[in-house]
Amino acid sequence: MHILIFGASGHVGTGLAHHLSAKHRITGVVRSQRDEATPYAPIVVPRWVDRPQTVIDELHRVGAPPVDAVIAAVGGWYVDEAMIDRGIDAFDQDYTSYLRGHFSACTVSEGLADAGGSDRVRHLALNGVASVEACVGSGAISVFGAAQEMLIRVAAAESRSGVYRELKVMAPIGGDDRNDLHGGVETIGLPAVADAVIAVLSRPEEHEISTQVHA
Ligand SMILES: NC(=O)c1ccc[n+]([C@@H]2O[C@H](COP(=O)([O-])OP(=O)(O)OC[C@H]3O[C@@H](n4cnc5c(N)ncnc54)[C@H](OP(=O)(O)O)[C@@H]3O)[C@@H](O)[C@H]2O)c1
Repeated sequence: MHILIFGASGHVGTGLAHHLSAKHRITGVVRSQRDEATPYAPIVVPRWVDRPQTVIDELHRVGAPPVDAVIAAVGGWYVDEAMIDRGIDAFDQDYTSYLRGHFSACTVSEGLADAGGSDRVRHLALNGVASVEACVGSGAISVFGAAQEMLIRVAAAESRSGVYRELKVMAPIGGDDRNDLHGGVETIGLPAVADAVIAVLSRPEEHEISTQVHA
């Protein structure tokens, strides 16, 4: 498959590209040029969230083959003070980093699907345990994670030619130093996440719109 990854510069995006690139062609959307070698072919689209069509234009400009699948690994992670104490500006900022990016990634998938590829374009959004539990100190991530599931459900219901799924990774992903692993918290390895991603993308019809992978 030719897989397009949003959030390619992040922990999950880079890790997935690393594990998937042996068998799949990976193009990563990044907002700024990377100095280091990457396990994906980067396309630099600084304002892709505001202008999703520029991603499709850039794919055409570099002569990329049709995209079969899109992975949205946009967002991140923090533990801070209570959501309401963080204030409205932080809440707006988190909306921008999470839900807004996922909306634009869906916009790109819909544009690619409408343009016609080798098959129906499959879109997989990554989500986490915060979307089903009120995570203290990461409250806005819970709010926007829960909304993200409905974003994918609405896209799936309304799409003319795309296939939309989400994968909730229900444990911290190994190797991410931002996770608090005190008290023996179990992590899930990137190879297991990569296997789950490929299972959904290869056979979306066998998976619910929202599926979970556990440690
Ligand atoms: N890490 C975990 O343990 C874990 C566990 C479960 C689920 N997940 C899921 O995995 C996904 C990615 O998490 P991660 O840990 O890889 O996060 P990360 O390392 O912080 O990377 C976040 C990515 O999102 C992009 N991004 C952030 N804000 C953006 C904005 N305003 N506009 C456009 N792009 C933006 C970043 O791009 P730039 O570099 O261009 O800023 C970066 O590539 C999330 O959906 C999360 O729910 C992660």
